Amino acid sequence: MKRDFLTILDLRSEEVDALLRRASTLKEDFKEGNLKPTLEGKTLGLIFDKPSTRTRVSFEVAMYQLGGRAIFMSSQQTQLSRDEPLRDTALVLSRYIDGLVVRTYEDADLQELARHAQIPVINGLTDLYHPCQVMGDILTIREKKGDLKNLQIAWVGDGNNVAHSWINAAARLPFRLTLACPPGFEPKKEILETAKRLAGERILCGNDPLEAVRNADVVNTDVWTSMGQDEERRMRLTAFKDYQINGDLLRKAKPDAIVLHCLPAHRGEEITDEVMNGPNSAIFDQAENRMHLQRALLDWLLGS
Ligand code: CP
Ligand code: NVA
Repeated sequence: MKRDFLTILDLRSEEVDALLRRASTLKEDFKEGNLKPTLEGKTLGLIFDKPSTRTRVSFEVAMYQLGGRAIFMSSQQTQLSRDEPLRDTALVLSRYIDGLVVRTYEDADLQELARHAQIPVINGLTDLYHPCQVMGDILTIREKKGDLKNLQIAWVGDGNNVAHSWINAAARLPFRLTLACPPGFEPKKEILETAKRLAGERILCGNDPLEAVRNADVVNTDVWTSMGQDEERRMRLTAFKDYQINGDLLRKAKPDAIVLHCLPAHRGEEITDEVMNGPNSAIFDQAENRMHLQRALLDWLLGS
């Protein structure tokens, strides 16, 4: 039976762990110049409704590295833009391609595509989740910090799609997650409550950045205004002004804490230049790891 990757909760803890291990192995092989064409003859489709640099390129490159091909479709240039139903689109694409990455607004649209597709469907970001991002981020943390157990990962900023995937990850892996979001911008209650049932005290969500970052091993943030929220930008600049990752805040974390940002960043807003370019930043290794993680994911979901 086909498997999808729509949220991290689609995977059991052992599967999350196996995926991370596989990604590490494939990354080592890649660095030694050993790539096995395990997806030769296979085609990955990508339907994107929102802009992308990293997700698109890292998936396309990962697919080529595995011996397959990728076809990118801006949804505006498909018949989806002229109201072809998602169901019909999923049924037709299933006859041509072997897997589909979707980046869109409504998570329900992704779910609808996945329900009708006979091929694996992967979430390349929705308004609700960004699971490939967070799996790549965790690969980075494992490389830099080793065992996840007892690590404290802080999230400062918006309770957005990336934060939601971090909350799901905490339900599957043994780290502690401390979130600080401005009042009114906390993660969705149901996502938090579901994860807390599984992770208990390991997830804490409040409004104080100093509290969240104190003694953290990882300090993590994202833009204040996500794609699709541009009309809220001015209001958000005010609401988030005390939630910047800067040198002062970073000094509250452990001295060897690493800083993560999924990118694209607005330097000078959610994160300063000083921190992004500084010795604690693991942000560009993090971006690279999207490709390694996704190679493992494609190999798993599309491989025979
Ligand atoms: N981090 C991330 O998903 O980047 P893109 O929007 O460039 O794909
Ligand atoms: N939260 C951001 C992530 C971008 C990769 C957005 O949805 O725009």
